[in-house]
Amino acid sequence: MQSNHTIRKPKGKLGVLVVGLNGAVSTTFLAGVMAVRKGLAQPVGSLTQMGTIRLGKRTEHRSPLIKKFIELAKLDDLVFGGWDIRNENCYDSALHAGVLTLDHLNLIKKELQAIRPMKAVFDQFYVKRLHGSHVKKGKNKFELMEQLREDIRAFKKQNKLDRCVLIWCGSTEVFISVNGVHKNLKKFEEAMKKNHADIAPSMLYACAALKEGVAFANGAPNLTVDAPAVMELAKQMGVPISGKDFKTGQTLLKTVLAPMLKARLIGLNGWFSSNILGNRDGEVLDDPDSFKTKEESKLSVLEGILQPDLYPDLYKDYYHKVRINYYPPRGDNKESWDNIDIFGWMGYPMQVKINFLCRDSILAAPIVLDLVLFMDLAHRAGMKGIQEWLSFYFKSPMVAPGLYPEHDLFIQLMKLKNTLRHLKGEELITHLGLEYYD
Ligand SMILES: NC(=O)c1ccc[n+]([C@@H]2O[C@H](COP(=O)([O-])OP(=O)(O)OC[C@H]3O[C@@H](n4cnc5c(N)ncnc54)[C@H](O)[C@@H]3O)[C@@H](O)[C@H]2O)c1
Repeated sequence: MQSNHTIRKPKGKLGVLVVGLNGAVSTTFLAGVMAVRKGLAQPVGSLTQMGTIRLGKRTEHRSPLIKKFIELAKLDDLVFGGWDIRNENCYDSALHAGVLTLDHLNLIKKELQAIRPMKAVFDQFYVKRLHGSHVKKGKNKFELMEQLREDIRAFKKQNKLDRCVLIWCGSTEVFISVNGVHKNLKKFEEAMKKNHADIAPSMLYACAALKEGVAFANGAPNLTVDAPAVMELAKQMGVPISGKDFKTGQTLLKTVLAPMLKARLIGLNGWFSSNILGNRDGEVLDDPDSFKTKEESKLSVLEGILQPDLYPDLYKDYYHKVRINYYPPRGDNKESWDNIDIFGWMGYPMQVKINFLCRDSILAAPIVLDLVLFMDLAHRAGMKGIQEWLSFYFKSPMVAPGLYPEHDLFIQLMKLKNTLRHLKGEELITHLGLEYYD
């Protein structure tokens, strides 16, 4: 099948700018890439590094590695930078995050120590539990956004970069819903100049990135690029955007199990999800305003998959509750429990119980890598605006206005791989397979 996209070759260095550079997810990502580059670790969990893609008929036995099939940037060509409110090198931050052991960190100590954050745009109004000490000053939000643009330009110049991707791994901001100030670019910029409260710092990073022609991916549930004005800017600048909220632990499981219930037409009475985590993300989410942003993101998943409107007898009135409890002793090693009350043939009740002992940043780090590489690919392929094919990585995937998001993990994976096939002019895989029996 002919694709109308030509993919520009990934020449030169790719800058990876991370907001929240000193956080748990970011430092685990950085350390992992550095270790993989040196052959000291395997990039487990990364589709771009370990995944394959089937091409053509099953009888052809063609399943190359994705990174051999399509032109992705090489790990050796990534150059890291970013912003944080703490002026600390990334080795010290990784130690504080407590995700990786000293044995691992010491193998890449020098490289991690060399990375320090630029001053952040931060306002405690948006993340109540944090205090920023390494923060920019400016007359208004517009001016702060311009300072971020200067940072991006300087980073590109100093490191002789061909291009950049920016990814938000910063804390979850308070809940903001789309309103008049996000309606179009003109209103959005006016609101920045007036320091309007509905313009959060993450939106300033997004705006700066897009104006500099840098792709932007959002790993947190903040509104950020999921607003008409920012979408308009992305289109205008020909830059890809994606989000939001990395799909890692409990929601990852939910988007595998719920499609199974629906596929077998098993009914649902209730789904109670609870978890404990003790990292800084847990502390930030302990604030009700930041939790609300996360809650909205986590709750949307079931409704999207089960489609109660289409299946009222099975899914009309289920009870769905999500709880996140900050519990410091666990650090980054989250534990989650799900109790699922279901019903089958003639309405007989049954239960499913899940206890997942995961590591938050270990699950998130490969997603950061894949998003960086795929967003860069999208940009080089001339794809602009919302990248729905990257829904696979997000709890609340961004979609074109009027569309409902696709949450089922395996449909998302099929969409992603078919997009890669399409970009390379390969036949799409429909799984019809009747031709094998003719
Ligand atoms: N780990 C996961 O599985 C997972 C899954 C989905 C989403 N997320 C989201 O990813 C984000 C990062 O998670 P984490 O565990 O690394 O959290 P973290 O608290 O360890 O790191 C966040 C970092 O962002 C910095 N920060 C906050 N506001 C900033 C700003 N305006 N500018 C620059 N830096 C800023 C903080 O100082 C901190 O270093 C969170 O929003 C979290 O909700 C994580």
